[in-house]
Amino acid sequence: MRFRAKSAALLLGAAIVGAALWWRKNPSACPYGQRFWVEAPHPLITRDRLREVLAPQPGERVLEIGPGTGYYTLHVADWIGEQGRLDIFDLQQEMLDHTMRRATEAGLSNIHPAQGDARELLYSDAAFDAVYLTTVLGEIPDRDAALREIARVLRPGGRLVVGELFGDPHWVSPGKLAAETAQAGLGGFLRHGPAVGYFARLER
Ligand SMILES: C[S@@+](CC[C@H](N)C(=O)[O-])C[C@H]1O[C@@H](n2cnc3c(N)ncnc32)[C@H](O)[C@@H]1O
Repeated sequence: MRFRAKSAALLLGAAIVGAALWWRKNPSACPYGQRFWVEAPHPLITRDRLREVLAPQPGERVLEIGPGTGYYTLHVADWIGEQGRLDIFDLQQEMLDHTMRRATEAGLSNIHPAQGDARELLYSDAAFDAVYLTTVLGEIPDRDAALREIARVLRPGGRLVVGELFGDPHWVSPGKLAAETAQAGLGGFLRHGPAVGYFARLER
């Protein structure tokens, strides 16, 4: 009996590792049906730390790519105030609807959703003071295209903050991120926090 339980546990472990490896090699969006992953607490890449690194100012125009169910969204919208504008852009309409429901409940009116693929942003050049995305980049099949689009929509001197958490099958290491962002024309890579859970800040 004990042997059977041990074998079952080993099999389950192997299946989870196998699925994570497969997922890592085949980037795709975390489905809305599995949103419990993004609703769980985000250790190390906390909201307070995002605020420190992104340094959002009242009145700024900010873009969040891949908000999911809005773990950071409502807070950022509050930090930039009513004069500010937070655009949220996600591949999945359900994620946007979920976040917007929460925004309405919280009485926030400065969040503007749009559905699409980060490889082709529908915003004009130099439209944003800052862009941020957390545990999103690794889900995008062509990261270079997405990073070039981000560089395009940031104003000169605008900030980009990328959050990554180890354990996410799509985790992007700081070394890889530094190389890929440099290639896309984003400079001044600064890592905040340990590699297993960090925010990287860059500038256009
Ligand atoms: C793992 S969730 C992270 C959610 C949120 N940033 C957080 O940390 O709680 C990834 C989000 O990125 C979105 N996403 C994935 N690929 C995308 C793409 N190519 N373009 C836009 N959004 C994408 C997913 O739909 C999902 O909402």
